[in-house]
Amino acid sequence: MQSEASSTGLTSRTAWKALRQHSAAIGGKHLREFFAEDPGRGERYTLEREGIFLDYSKNRIDDQTLRLLLQLADETGLRARIDAMFRGDKINLTENRAVLHVALRAPKGQQILVDGEDVVPAVHAVLDKMEGFARKVRSGLWKGFTGKRIRNVVNIGIGGSDLGPVMAYEALKHYSQRDLNFRFVSNVDSTDFAEAVQDLDADETLFLVASKTFTTLETMTNAHTARAWALAQLGGDERAIARHFVAISTNAKEVASFGIDTENMFGFWDWVGGRYSMDSAIGLSTMIAIGPENFRALLAGFHAMDEHFRTAPFAENLPVLLGLLSVWYAEFFDAQTVAILPYEQYLKRFPAYLQQLTMESNGKHVTLDGTTVDYQTGPIYWGEPGTNGQHSFYQLIHQGTRLIPCDFIGFYKTLNPIGRHHDMLMANVFAQAEALAFGKTAEQVRAEGTAEWLVPHRVFEGNRPSNVILAEAISPQVLGKLVALYEHTVFTQGAIWNIDSFDQWGVELGKVLATRILGELESASAPAASHDSSTNSLIARYRSHK
Ligand code: F6P
Repeated sequence: MQSEASSTGLTSRTAWKALRQHSAAIGGKHLREFFAEDPGRGERYTLEREGIFLDYSKNRIDDQTLRLLLQLADETGLRARIDAMFRGDKINLTENRAVLHVALRAPKGQQILVDGEDVVPAVHAVLDKMEGFARKVRSGLWKGFTGKRIRNVVNIGIGGSDLGPVMAYEALKHYSQRDLNFRFVSNVDSTDFAEAVQDLDADETLFLVASKTFTTLETMTNAHTARAWALAQLGGDERAIARHFVAISTNAKEVASFGIDTENMFGFWDWVGGRYSMDSAIGLSTMIAIGPENFRALLAGFHAMDEHFRTAPFAENLPVLLGLLSVWYAEFFDAQTVAILPYEQYLKRFPAYLQQLTMESNGKHVTLDGTTVDYQTGPIYWGEPGTNGQHSFYQLIHQGTRLIPCDFIGFYKTLNPIGRHHDMLMANVFAQAEALAFGKTAEQVRAEGTAEWLVPHRVFEGNRPSNVILAEAISPQVLGKLVALYEHTVFTQGAIWNIDSFDQWGVELGKVLATRILGELESASAPAASHDSSTNSLIARYRSHK
């Protein structure tokens, strides 16, 4: 697919050039001025769709900015790209794959074709199989090798095979079956496994080995360690494996060679990217935790946002607006990062989840046709739940020298209403967004009787942009909508930047070198000094100290 953008070049586009000029004109304008000029701005620059409310009024934009950003979306062919994704076209060019996480949450009866075959029936067959298994584990019908019911579920996976499951488990803990323990092992650091199982009995423990490829070094190493740990406790009988290990993978051959009965394998497909897979079979731990009905509600939430993204005009399209705003700051304000600030303890792993989603997707420096970009691509996403971040890094956002656009995420209701906690929490959301936007002038500081030498230290410049995203309460549906909101925001950014948001070649080199170096760390005799002088001496030092 030779896209329109790659043949013309983003920076040569009419809308891009106009945005550059426009940013020079309004770039220095303060949010105080924007609000003073338009008293209705706080209501006008909002959008509520699918129960997700977005206030984007505290961005350094005006109507002309929005008009030009929307024009940019049109000029770069965003609409055609969205249609291509939903149609099942192979838009992951470098891996020659369709990108169809949207098919994972398509209702029964919808038709989505990949290479002429409707994939939706297969998606539902896997969901039904997951449901049957999840019910057995939750009810105690699924027994371990010694006849005991399962009390512990340990997901072994990394990247997309870990971050989504962990995030969803934490986010939806309120809805989970509390007599089951869930643990997540990802790191090849043996401490991760050792600490996860140190208080568990193997005869009550079920391992879910989650790996799209079933070849990932970390996951396979942990899975083999888990196998040995379980067998050591279960008398060494290999038949125990079938009761204590299931696989989630696209690779039946490798699953079988590990020793897991492919009857106990939950499949998915090469058109599901790892970081887009939490709603596939990779979500088995989620389904066991929250139950099939809640898992289907999660899928319904994803689907509702998919439909919104697919059909809404861009000016009223939540992911499109969020995507365009981040493009605006990344290029024209040199913003290096975006802070994700959920004011909901259950979303404590949401920023970590978004790190992979956003940065593995859009951390690219060439366009689809291999041309080096002459503009900024994916910013760094990071964050912590509020209010903890306020007592940590917010200082820099308020008074540092860098511009850090923030996404505040809050809820009208808490699942744990106790005293005044929730009002206090939400007061902080609104206060932080207000303080960032409007700051505090030297005059205001002086008027408080502050000594003159202290005035500069106490001034808040303001003009720090933020979005405020609000929803009812954290629930499976709402989580699905929020994740899909960011998935499609990433898609929008990638379409504007004309990059492949669905490959991840950048993780390969380190993997290859690690395999080579591992041999050198373990060889009986000193390896030849075949690296640079730094790497050679680090290897020698480790060998002599280990
Ligand atoms: O980090 C690279 C990557 O391929 C991710 O995209 C993926 O989520 C992760 O490794 C795990 O891969 P797998 O599910 O195949 O073990």
